[in-house]
Amino acid sequence: MTRYAVIGNPIAHSRSPEIHEHFADQCGVRLSYERLLAPIDGFASTVAEFFAGGGKGLNVTLPFKEEAARWVTAADALGRSIGAVNTIRPRPAPASDGAAAFEGTNTDGAGLVADLARLEWPLRGRNILMLGAGGAARGALWSLLEHGPRRICIANRTLARAQALCTALAARSARFGCTLVPRAYDAIDAHADVVINATSLGLGATADAFADLLPRLTLRRARCYDMMYSAGSEPTPFIEFAHLRGAGATADGLGMLVGQAAVAFEWWHGRTPCIATTLAALRHP
Ligand code: ATR
Repeated sequence: MTRYAVIGNPIAHSRSPEIHEHFADQCGVRLSYERLLAPIDGFASTVAEFFAGGGKGLNVTLPFKEEAARWVTAADALGRSIGAVNTIRPRPAPASDGAAAFEGTNTDGAGLVADLARLEWPLRGRNILMLGAGGAARGALWSLLEHGPRRICIANRTLARAQALCTALAARSARFGCTLVPRAYDAIDAHADVVINATSLGLGATADAFADLLPRLTLRRARCYDMMYSAGSEPTPFIEFAHLRGAGATADGLGMLVGQAAVAFEWWHGRTPCIATTLAALRHP
């Protein structure tokens, strides 16, 4: 049976094994998928051991995505640009010197876009408000731009970080005809059709924390997506906040988790699983 795994620290909470096993059942693929706990300073040795033992593919989660981008022999344009890799596979043809070679990609942004498609939230010609300018926002924006939004406002507590992200994505946004605008949270100046929470102000926070951060934001039926998800059926703090401010629709990031896994599954196995089917199974086990 071919071996796959997700590596991180901590890792016990990861739902990736459930998701990939569900995909495998859907698509008639035989695999084993395990959780790998790597010591904080032991990413490279744990990965090398996994592949030396016959591993065929690895997902990477916190805090190792940047280290994974440096570890792989070749990251694709997406992984290089974001500086973070979340999926690794051995190259089909080994390097000429016989050394093992590994390629990496990042499926997080594509996973978000796939989930927005499942939700039937249109992006083309729309205004998007991205809350946050860290690694999660960067990956999401890279993929969102391909889907033709008219304008994206990147709002962040540290304005300089939002400005730097706009600069880093300037060529790509010009290519797709999108205007990128950096803003502080108290200077968001246009109505957004879709609002995405990519801050790490997550489950430990309350709806009030978002209200304090965004005192003047009105949502007027905007569709609001939280990249975080909660373990149970209760809404995340951001979703609670979004409802209080008049959101028209909300969704949490469990669908994005399944979406990024689906893109990774396709990259490894060449088969496309159904996100909605697996998401329903995760929500109602
Ligand atoms: P990730 O990889 O999860 O995106 P990150 O790169 O550390 O993590 O980015 C975290 C994001 O959450 C940033 O946008 C950060 O804002 P700053 O750039 O101003 O630090 C945001 N964030 C984290 N804690 C926050 C808080 N208490 N209030 C507002 N924004 C916060």
